[in-house]
Amino acid sequence: MQEHEGAPSPLAGRSCLTLAEFGPGEIGLILDEALRLKSLQKTGVPFQPLRGKTLAMIFQKPSNRTRVSFEVGMYQLGGHALPLSPQEIQMGKRETTSDIGKTLARYTDAIMARVFGHHEVEELAEAAGVPVINGLSDLHHPCQALADLLTIHEELGSLEGARVTYVGDGNNVAHSLAIGCALTGAQLTIAHPEGHAPDPEIVKLAGELGAAPTLTQDPREGVRSAQAVYTDVWASMGQEAEAGERREKFAPYQVNEELMSYAVSEAIFLHCLPAHRDEEVSGGVMDGPRSRVFDQAENRMHAQKALLYLLLG
Ligand code: CP
Ligand code: NVA
Repeated sequence: MQEHEGAPSPLAGRSCLTLAEFGPGEIGLILDEALRLKSLQKTGVPFQPLRGKTLAMIFQKPSNRTRVSFEVGMYQLGGHALPLSPQEIQMGKRETTSDIGKTLARYTDAIMARVFGHHEVEELAEAAGVPVINGLSDLHHPCQALADLLTIHEELGSLEGARVTYVGDGNNVAHSLAIGCALTGAQLTIAHPEGHAPDPEIVKLAGELGAAPTLTQDPREGVRSAQAVYTDVWASMGQEAEAGERREKFAPYQVNEELMSYAVSEAIFLHCLPAHRDEEVSGGVMDGPRSRVFDQAENRMHAQKALLYLLLG
């Protein structure tokens, strides 16, 4: 085991399949470490505790941010990351998910996986015996939520009591945000169209972890007094066939200048990206002065470096 500031990391050997696996103190530790590593990187101080370590990255779906931020992050930490495309791995087709996990664990120190069914990251973690990081499943996107929390903390100065409103589909991004807000004391409201509420099990879990998000179908009511307004695509990867039908249903939930006027005047706009301008967000808000979406994208790397260091350290 590597030394972590003179002691083993308290998270060494753990996986990150959902943020619910961590306690509030552990989330705080990851975010503090992310801020420290970000500052080191900005000031040009090398920090390479993962020399000789390798991360396998399984992609069953496309990616820009996850692929690049993990690969560059591992490089900056002194390690190596190995991207594996759907054609190479063919999860569950060429061999079982469990056999893939067992095999990769013989070569690499950790596995990051972007999958369809959440059970696939669970099966990988069960079989591999090395840390498995969920790089997005149909149900959760924990690395995104870490970057979201980091960005909100930097912008608002604190997560405790921060008023955050997510507008749109109750999807993987909304789920992880709900768990992250519950663990850090941020107050989340989710404004969603009928039939697109977040999973009730995850709403219940957030309640058990700290606070369930407030749900509403009224986007204006949801955004009222928000300090951060967040949205995501209306049809996630794997839901492309529903995109046309959803466009009509979700239209009143577009985050545009009019909807932002219900938030506090200095409210920031967040989006996990990729974004579809003039669908879930107007071009004016996306590219406007309150948008922090590229800071948020950058924070993926700092948050994930902290996670990698703590899980592998
Ligand atoms: N936000 C996010 O996960 O982006 P990618 O799909 O590009 O990785
Ligand atoms: N909800 C989106 C997030 C993309 C980063 C999806 O799953 O496609």
